[in-house]
Amino acid sequence: MATFRPTRVELDYPSRSCLLQHDDDKLFGTYPYVWLRDNCRCDKCFHPSSRGRRVLMVDLDPDIIPDVAEIDDQTLNIRWPDGHLSQFPLSWLKEMQFSNMREDPVSTPVRQFWGNEMHHKIPTFSFADILHNDKNLHDWIEALQVHGLALIKDAPHKEGAVLEIGKRISNLKMISFGETFQVLSKFEASNLFCTNAKLGLHTDLPYFAYSPNIQMLHCIKQASKGGENQFCDGYKVAEDIKHIDPEVFRILTTIPVDFREWGTDYKEYHYKHRSPIIQLLPNGRFKAISYNDQVRAPYIQIPVQDVYKVYRAIKIFNTELYKHENKIEIKMVEGDIVSFANQRVLHGRSSFTVTETNERHLECAYIDWDEACCRMRVIREKMLNQKPL
Ligand SMILES: [Fe+2]
Ligand SMILES: [Zn+2]
Repeated sequence: MATFRPTRVELDYPSRSCLLQHDDDKLFGTYPYVWLRDNCRCDKCFHPSSRGRRVLMVDLDPDIIPDVAEIDDQTLNIRWPDGHLSQFPLSWLKEMQFSNMREDPVSTPVRQFWGNEMHHKIPTFSFADILHNDKNLHDWIEALQVHGLALIKDAPHKEGAVLEIGKRISNLKMISFGETFQVLSKFEASNLFCTNAKLGLHTDLPYFAYSPNIQMLHCIKQASKGGENQFCDGYKVAEDIKHIDPEVFRILTTIPVDFREWGTDYKEYHYKHRSPIIQLLPNGRFKAISYNDQVRAPYIQIPVQDVYKVYRAIKIFNTELYKHENKIEIKMVEGDIVSFANQRVLHGRSSFTVTETNERHLECAYIDWDEACCRMRVIREKMLNQKPL
C-alpha cells in the first residue's frame, strides 16, 4: 500500500532547504532551514496551549544550517549547531507543504456581481435557523460575502433581533449611536435618516476610516405608503465603468472625496474622512465603495482644476447606480431583516407617509467582517473536521 510518508531527507545547501523524499525519489516537500528553525514545535520554541511562537525574530538567524537531519518513522529530527533538537511530525509537515498551501476560502470568497435579476433570487434565511443552526449562520455570512445581500425572514416584531444575531457572531460594532439604533421619523431630526425623506443610494458612514462592513436593517413597523428600499451592487457598477470608461474609473479609484457628519443626537459628534469612491486592493480586487451624497462635504481637497472632472466622474457613477438593470427595490414586511455588505451594496429608501397610527420603525446594526469571518471559519472547521494550523 502506498504511504504518504517520506523516508529520506537531504540537506540541499544551494536552496538552503531540507528536501524530503519518498523511497522512489519522488519529492514530498521542500522545507527551508530558516522556516524549520522558526517553526520548531518544542515547548521552548512554541507555547502549546496559547499556540504562540516563542522564538522571536531577534534570535532567529536567516543563515542557519542544520548539523544533522534525519527521518525516524513519523518524525523529522533536526539537530541545530547550538545543539537544539527540533522534531516535526511528518503529518504536520504534510499540511505545511509549500507547494500545496491552500487558500483560505473564507478570506478570499468568489464574489458574484449582480444586477436587476437579483430581485427574484435574493438569498433568504429564517431568523430561527440563523439563531439555532450553525450551518445556516455560516451560509448567511457566505451569501453576504458572495452576493453582498441576503434577507432574513420571520424575526420578532420588536427591538433586539439584530442584537441576537450579533451575539451569534460575537458582538455588534459599537458606534456613538450605540450598538443598535432606531430609524424612526423625527421632527427636526439632525440626521436625514431619521426623517421620512427619500434617501439616495449610499453606503453608511463613509466618514469613518473603518466604515461598518455588514449592515442589518430590521423592519419592526413598516409604513403603509412608501418606505421601499433600493439596493445596487456597487462592485458590479464599478466593474462596468472600468470597461466603459477607463479614465472615469481611474478618477473614481484615485481621487479622494470628502465626507463628514456632525450633530448633537446622543452625544455631540463630528466625523470626517476622505477616500476615493471606489477603493482597490493592491491586487486590483475591489476593497470598498464609499458613496453618500447626503453627507458628501462641501469642501473638496483637490486642485481646483480637477473639480469638474471629479464631478463628471461621480455623475457617471451615479447614473450607472440608478439604471434599471442595476438596481432592485423591495418593500420589507414586518419581521424582515435585510442584511448587506455596506461597502459594496448601496442602499436607498423611498420617502414614506407617517400617520399617528402608522409610524415606520427600523432597527439598524453593524457587524465587522473580521468577526463574521472568524465565526464562519470556526463553523467551517467544525463541519469539515479541520484543525487550524
Ligand atoms: Fe443608510
Ligand atoms: Zn525548539
